[in-house]
Amino acid sequence: MVRSNKNKVIIVGCGPGLKAYIPPKALYYIKKADILVGSRRLLQLFQDNNAHKIVLEKDYRSMIDRIANWSATKQVVVLVSGDPCFFSYAKMIVKTLGRESCKIIPGISSIQLAFAAIGESWDDACFVSLHGRDNEYERLVEELRQHKKVGILTDQRNTPCVIARQLVKCGLRGWKMYVCENLSMPSERISEFELTRAMNIKTQKAVVVILIKT
Ligand SMILES: C[S@@+](CC[C@H](N)C(=O)[O-])C[C@H]1O[C@@H](n2cnc3c(N)ncnc32)[C@H](O)[C@@H]1O
Repeated sequence: MVRSNKNKVIIVGCGPGLKAYIPPKALYYIKKADILVGSRRLLQLFQDNNAHKIVLEKDYRSMIDRIANWSATKQVVVLVSGDPCFFSYAKMIVKTLGRESCKIIPGISSIQLAFAAIGESWDDACFVSLHGRDNEYERLVEELRQHKKVGILTDQRNTPCVIARQLVKCGLRGWKMYVCENLSMPSERISEFELTRAMNIKTQKAVVVILIKT
């Protein structure tokens, strides 16, 4: 059964951080929400919105049950960063509730902004997320052996310098590492290193790494 939009859970991509990157269609659904669910940072973007705001902490699974219950009578809008279809909570929500119960509004991914910032196309790139995943290095090395351009989502453990050390340890050389920090924010910084030179760099919290074969 296809449900009406009213009962669908709307999952909205909020882009890389700056509100100006949120598309009008996303703002339209956010404005109509009875309940807004999202991280503290994303909810703060909509302080003036009258919807009831629910902070998402680490309770991802149990939150989906609550979202399902609320959605029977209320319009629930879930805010996610970047694009919902790129390494996000949306995957778990859609898998649990079913496609017919969800509507996804795309957003601008941090990866898109990172490639734009360095002036490179991403149609010939492959992507790996190290966000919350420590076991992906083998796959990353495999991808680097097969591709010339790789975009990587990082986290506080898998930082650019940790990535550089792991890759150098695996014998990889001849890669340029672009480090794209706090994209769209006033503290945005884009830097470029030869891989071995990135082994001791200090970086901020939100970082996309792009590796390009030289
Ligand atoms: C859980 S993933 C979410 C990705 C998101 N769905 C997207 O499309 O960008 C979080 C990771 O995205 C990257 N990220 C998100 N916002 C960023 C920003 N403003 N600047 C740099 N990297 C960002 C970082 O690698 C961060 O650890």
